[in-house]
Parts: sequence; C-alpha cells; structure tokens
Amino acid sequence: MSKVKDLKLAAEGKLKIEWAESRMPVLLIIRERFKKEKPLENIRIACCLHVTKETAVLMRTLKAGGAKVALCGSNPLSTQDDIASALAKEGIETYAWRGVNNKDYYWCLDKVLDTKPHITMDDGGDLVTRILMKREGLLKDIIAGTEETTTGVIRFRAMEKDGVLKYPVFAVNDAQCKNMFDNFYGTGESALHAIIRSTNILISGKSVVIGGYGHCGQGVATMAKAMGAHTIITEVNPVNALKAYYDGHEVMSMEKAAGIGDVFITVTGCKHVINKKHFGSMKPGAILSNAGHFDVEIDVKGLRETAKSVRKIKDCVEEITLGNGNRIFLLGEGRLVNLACAEGHPSEVMDNSFALQALSAEHIVKNSDELETKVHKVPEEIDLDVARSKLKSLGVDIDMLTKEQENYLTGWKEGT
Ligand code: ADE
Repeated sequence: MSKVKDLKLAAEGKLKIEWAESRMPVLLIIRERFKKEKPLENIRIACCLHVTKETAVLMRTLKAGGAKVALCGSNPLSTQDDIASALAKEGIETYAWRGVNNKDYYWCLDKVLDTKPHITMDDGGDLVTRILMKREGLLKDIIAGTEETTTGVIRFRAMEKDGVLKYPVFAVNDAQCKNMFDNFYGTGESALHAIIRSTNILISGKSVVIGGYGHCGQGVATMAKAMGAHTIITEVNPVNALKAYYDGHEVMSMEKAAGIGDVFITVTGCKHVINKKHFGSMKPGAILSNAGHFDVEIDVKGLRETAKSVRKIKDCVEEITLGNGNRIFLLGEGRLVNLACAEGHPSEVMDNSFALQALSAEHIVKNSDELETKVHKVPEEIDLDVARSKLKSLGVDIDMLTKEQENYLTGWKEGT
C-alpha cells in the first residue's frame, strides 16, 4: 500500500493541504454535501493527476463521498513529495515521487489500476491509454472516466475517431469553468511565476515568445504583456493568430521569432515546435520553457545533440552551450514548467477545476446505466453550479432574469 519518497515529509505536506483548503471553498462545500449523501459509496476511482496540495484536497473530497481512491502522478517532475507522503499517511493509496523514471512511472500507473477502478480520472490520458493498450481486462468494471487537460481530450477524441475508445469519458477540460479560468489565469500566472522563481529574471522589457494562442497561450501572453514584456505569438491556426494580432501581440513564424526572443514558452500541445532549425539562431542567454502537458514541444533530445556542453546551473535550470559558442538555458528539462519548477496553478483556480471533477464523478455514478461510449461534455448545469458556488464564496451577487426577460429570450415574435 502506497509508495512515496519519504513518509517523514507527511507533516509538512499536511500543513500545505490545509493551506490549499483555505482557498478552495467550492470543493469544501461539495465535500460537506458528499459527507452526508455519500454519492460515491463503494466506487473505486483511479486517479493519475499532478500530485499537489490542490489534488490532495480533491482526493479528500472524493473519499468523503465514499469513494476508494488510488493516486499516481501524471508527470515525472510534478509530484510534490511532501503532499504524496501526507496522502499516503492518511490512508489514500498513493504511488508517486518526484523524478520517477519511465519504468517506475508505469509501475505506479499499474498499481493504481490494480485497484480495479469504476472511474478513471486522468490528466493527460495515460490511464485510459494504458488500459486500452495493456489492461483491457479492467474494462468490465469501468463505468466512465474524466479528463483534466487539453492534451488528454485530444488523445481521447483521436481514440473516438479511430473507433478504439472503449468507455465514456468526460472532457472536464472543455467545461467553461475549467478552460476560461484554469487554462487562462492558472497557466498564465503559474508559467510566468515558475520562470521567474527559477531564474529571477526581469520580465519587463523582454521579448517573450509564446508558442500557441489557445486558452493557455492567451493567458500566458496576457500576463507577460501586463508585466511589460514585448509579446510575440507563433501559431498554426489562422483564427488564433488573428485573435493574437487583434489582442495587440506581434505574430510571426517561429523561425523569425527564434532570433528575437529572450524567453520562449511553448503551450501548443504539439510536438517539436522549437527544434534544431531554431536553436542556432537564438540570442545568447535565451531561456526555453514549456507549459504544455508533454515534454515534446521543445525538441530536447535534438537540443542536447546540438550542444557542445550541458551544465546544471541550479535546480530546474540547465545551461546549454551550442556549437556556435552561444549559451542558452532550458528550464525543467522541457517538462511543464509551472509544475516542474514551481507548485502549479494557484489553489483558487484549481478549486473550480476540481469541483468539476468531483461533480462529474457524481454524475457518472448517477447516470451509469445510460452513458454512451464517447467523449462527453460536462453537463452545463454542473458548470453553472460551480460558477454560482464560487461567486457565492466570493460574496458576489448577480442579477436574475425576470419572467418577462425569460419569455423574451426564449421567444421569437418580438422584434423591430
Ligand atoms: N495542473 C496545473 N496546476 C495544478 C495543480 N496545482 N494541481 C493539480 N494539477 C494542476
């Protein structure tokens, strides 16, 4: 039962979980209801999520609802060891430690899957992929899954298109209370924070190149601009590129941006966005980081092959001396910088995302007999519930439609 780095870290982790709880009111309201109603009684949930204090608050909430949860990390560098230890100590089966190698990463996944889950909760899609590729025997117990991030949803849609998706999955990432806040404000703030925390550079006046202008890229660009950066966007999607242009950012190809940027942040979900074609033209001192889910956005292998030498400057910062003598810097081995080099998104914003996760798990159990095998939207009522509850916790009142207004909005006869 459980494998973590060091159980002696548990007391530290517990304090941090309590800190996160003080900033996650929506999840706590759900937890209180779950304690009474036990909507997840006897439900086994396998979770592959970044093991952070916010995830711990979600684990406690699912457990309060009666679920038996097992947790592994969803990225080799994102586990916070004190949190993993605290969870293990309080009896939540946890298999995670920072710096896990690839073989042990999958061992941890398998340990979590050995609990024969009814629900899978993914961040990046690794549990579902493992089940389809190696653990098909588990399918008979599974009701449905949830997915936290854009990359995972993309993988599941590809499975659906190929006709290999074997059970229903809920795209929590696509809910409004997730992508409008977590992807935009969460990624925006935490990616910049991680870069600043690990390098202590001044953002103001820097040319910051952001690869990708989806919700996450928009958040990063907005925050960087607000801090005084000259923001440059690279895109492949013409609509996103046009939006970036109208938002006041410069838009250009990565080939051109490579020679201009002081800081690079990839958030595309795509592969080798920065590659061997670009490294040689970068300015001395350029800083490379990735805020997308997988460590493929910067061609790190190609970068190391190009390097004359590599030196670790400090935790999270590597200096790469190129063949042309220029030194450039790679953060967090090209893994998602906000979690590898800092603590991930703030608790306040994870409150919304993880409230959606908890309520989606409840929805799955309540509707277990009628769920089609496909990628599902989180029901709108859940999205609205989370927003209402958050507003209430913030003390913000909003207007209500009158009957007359409701009729107007649902009718078609009133016009000019
Ligand atoms: N993804 C991004 N930030 C996170 C956090 N703080 N906890 C869990 N998952 C995250």
